[in-house]
Amino acid sequence: MATSSAQFTSEFSNPNLEVLISEAQIQARIKELGAEITRDYAGLNPLLIGVLKGACFFLSDLLRSIDTRLGIEFMAISSYGSSTRTSGEVRIMKDLDVPIEGRHILVVEDIVDTGLTLSYLLANLASRGAASVKLAALLDKYERRQKEVKIDYLGFKIPDEFVVGYGLDFAERYRNLPFIAVLKNPEA
Ligand code: IMP
Ligand code: MG
Repeated sequence: MATSSAQFTSEFSNPNLEVLISEAQIQARIKELGAEITRDYAGLNPLLIGVLKGACFFLSDLLRSIDTRLGIEFMAISSYGSSTRTSGEVRIMKDLDVPIEGRHILVVEDIVDTGLTLSYLLANLASRGAASVKLAALLDKYERRQKEVKIDYLGFKIPDEFVVGYGLDFAERYRNLPFIAVLKNPEA
């Protein structure tokens, strides 16, 4: 007997997902990165810049394990290409609201894949006269790198697989997963 027209289907236990990094592993690693960043940036009043939308989740957890004065800003960047591959063409869709001259910048990104997006962004920020520009990235898909990018604070190295969850999407879906998973069949 149908009691409701809206059927509940779990996204977290979707059989098309294979967990690669668990929620507990992510949170434990973020605590370690936060402690490192706290030590490195004590007294420097860093500005953390989150890259929309994917990095918001990592940024919000990371922030809460950094115990020193800091500020946050957001940028939106579009890199043209298909839903699973970047083309290398980068455009700033939402820029910073504040000048960053003399500030210590920590860019927070979800994943470095080819490195094309980040190498563009890091150079762009450095050209605005920041005192320093560093990068924190949750994931490093190192096998696909085309442009070298120095990741100062890295969560995890991952193999060349398309992953979703914890902010990462496939066509805007799966960002809400509390873990990182390999999407077994993107067409399903
Ligand atoms: P890059 O310029 O190739 O390094 O691209 C980085 C961007 O591509 C990330 O910010 C993501 O938005 C996207 N991306 C790359 N790999 C994946 C993936 O495995 N899952 C979801 N998005 C990805
Ligand atoms: Mg992104």
